Amino acid sequence: MSIQDITDDAGEDRGFKRGTPNTVFHIDDVHKSFAGLHALSDVDLSVHEGETHAIIGPNGAGKSTLLNVCVGRLKPDRGAVVFDGHVLTGKTPYEINQVGVARVFQTPEVFPDLTVLENVMVPGLSKKHGHFKFSPFSSFRKESALQDEAEHVLKSVGLQAQLTDNASSMSRGDKRRLELAMGLIQKPRLLLLDEPTAGMARHDTNATIDLLKQIKEGGMTKVIIEHDMHVVFSLADRISVLAGGRIIAQGTPEEIKNDPRVKEAYLGDEEV
Ligand SMILES: Nc1ncnc2c1ncn2[C@@H]1O[C@H](COP(=O)(O)OP(=O)(O)O)[C@@H](O)[C@H]1O
Ligand SMILES: [Mg+2]
Repeated sequence: MSIQDITDDAGEDRGFKRGTPNTVFHIDDVHKSFAGLHALSDVDLSVHEGETHAIIGPNGAGKSTLLNVCVGRLKPDRGAVVFDGHVLTGKTPYEINQVGVARVFQTPEVFPDLTVLENVMVPGLSKKHGHFKFSPFSSFRKESALQDEAEHVLKSVGLQAQLTDNASSMSRGDKRRLELAMGLIQKPRLLLLDEPTAGMARHDTNATIDLLKQIKEGGMTKVIIEHDMHVVFSLADRISVLAGGRIIAQGTPEEIKNDPRVKEAYLGDEEV
């Protein structure tokens, strides 16, 4: 798709676009400003069922803002986000979660006073029983099936040796893996990840790439915001490039690699 196509597309239709038949997640003409700064302008994006779609772009491009709009943390000034027929715009993060969307933030958001295992059981319980009240914690013990599941998920992210550790004592890289486990236990149909390997050593990054590849085999749709090109090109089926709050290119990894606009956007940042 050329930049002209994108511009024309955004201009011609301000309503919902249903996209291709297997489009399951759709960002339609999203705008978001912060005190006059256009963090996102005319953002259109279609994600196909089961695909891993990477959103890349230099620092300050608007990637985290876009993710926050998708998960209901920020209200766009204009436009809509639709998942599987559900309009997510205007819904609370909890409501968005309930239609099968989970997210892993750039800054790990774990419960520091809980153990690693408990951290994964909280979103598991929330998914099972709806709104979850944080006391009494003793109810965790009754949830033995959930505990087994949590242990299984923690094993899959390589944290099986740290089940009883307090989350506050973990390294940043381990917290990232814990947050990934907290997303996975919800068995989401769409997983949104903001730089899932940020703060990880190369070895852990590679382990996370392998894990995300396995998840892909299970058919989960993923949107991944990522700065690390090794991760992007290892995982993405398609890539959208954000720069200055606008989508400047979309395509397969090969197309993006060879796109002069992308190279230009990254000048002085890092090599694509
Ligand atoms: N809450 C906010 N208030 C004001 N400006 C913000 C806020 N969040 C992001 N921005 C600005 O919006 C732009 C995009 O930021 P961000 O989405 O974090 O970019 P990225 O994740 O691509 O690095 C930046 O110029 C940033 O300073
Ligand atoms: Mg960011």
